[in-house]
Amino acid sequence: MIAVTGAGGFLGSHVTDALLARGETVRALDLAPRLPENLEEAATRPGFSYRRCDVTRESQVEKALGGRPSAVLHAAATVGVDAYVRSPTTTIESSVLGTLAVLRACRRAKARCVYLSSSEVYGRNPRVPWAETADRVLGDPTLDRWSYSSSKGLCEHLVNAAHTELGVPTAIARPFNVYGPRQRPAFVIPITVHRVLNGERPIVYGDGAQTRCFTYVGDLVDGLVRCLDSERAIGEAFNLGFPRERSIDEAVRRVLEACGSDLEPRREDPRAAFGAGFDEVPRRIPDVRKAARVLGWVPRTDLPAGLASTVAWARSHPEWLRAPVGGAPAAGIRSRGARGTLGAGRRPRSPGRRARRSP
Ligand SMILES: NC(=O)c1ccc[n+]([C@@H]2O[C@H](COP(=O)([O-])OP(=O)(O)OC[C@H]3O[C@@H](n4cnc5c(N)ncnc54)[C@H](O)[C@@H]3O)[C@@H](O)[C@H]2O)c1
Repeated sequence: MIAVTGAGGFLGSHVTDALLARGETVRALDLAPRLPENLEEAATRPGFSYRRCDVTRESQVEKALGGRPSAVLHAAATVGVDAYVRSPTTTIESSVLGTLAVLRACRRAKARCVYLSSSEVYGRNPRVPWAETADRVLGDPTLDRWSYSSSKGLCEHLVNAAHTELGVPTAIARPFNVYGPRQRPAFVIPITVHRVLNGERPIVYGDGAQTRCFTYVGDLVDGLVRCLDSERAIGEAFNLGFPRERSIDEAVRRVLEACGSDLEPRREDPRAAFGAGFDEVPRRIPDVRKAARVLGWVPRTDLPAGLASTVAWARSHPEWLRAPVGGAPAAGIRSRGARGTLGAGRRPRSPGRRARRSP
């Protein structure tokens, strides 16, 4: 049995589908008490089971895993700029406490742990493309924006330590700007698709010259499954990204083309949208030669093809199109109130010094 944490989310649900399609038994774990919408199709397949589980609670992880999984794909985390600027405590707790609990369970079960880290670990290192050994270069440490990157970086240390000190077979995947069906409309591609199909002008945050490498979910899932399967993945970290750099301006234009729309994008100050804790990463480009060499992974879906599937899916899911932009608040935040367990009962920190950073 393979367990998937955060299985009700975007990536977790797609990996779950892929594993079931090849005949695996999959135990899906997430916060929702009832089956998440993204898993409705999976639930019709033999070999699927769902358990409500907060991964930050070790006893819940132990109980939900029940028996001995051969591997855990650990995708549960609080995800999205909106979420980690709104609640750094929830962002940090869900990552760090969750990863500790999952690693302990993997050690007991002698199971492989494939951890979903992020390209965010490289921060704003200007020397692109980034190999897996590239430096972490973060910005101003007082900005909440770096809480996600820092917590992912710390979790990578935990994962590596579990491997070297305790012998847990681990692998780390660092996805780069993944997009595709089911994604919460809180990231540049899904939010633009959502706005344009609803007849609203797309928004470009900042000058639009910042670049990303957009990775289609099908390619990413292929890479994750290889991390689960390959003996050579153990003890290693892999960049998983489509290595073609595109500006945000271009990505938005491509979405407009895919939707057949002539709406004009409008520009917004990201700090007005995300608060003074926001900071930009100017360029984000993976070097994916290691994943090709070790895993045989080659991403094949360039942006126009991936957008065609994403837009087709969005058009056939009116409930997704009706959801507010931003979608539901990220799950960790929804379940705990906006300040994690640390801030329970406290007032939010006054913006003070950070507010004066606004342009
Ligand atoms: N989507 C991307 O482009 C991208 C890029 C880099 C890294 N990642 C990483 O991939 C993983 C999955 O991301 P996603 O895009 O599917 O996000 P998502 O928000 O769609 O899914 C995350 C899931 O984790 C669950 N979760 C949150 N806190 C939990 C907790 N305490 N216990 C149990 N479940 C919890 C949520 O309910 C949600 O279903 C995350 O670890 C994320 O950091 C994603």
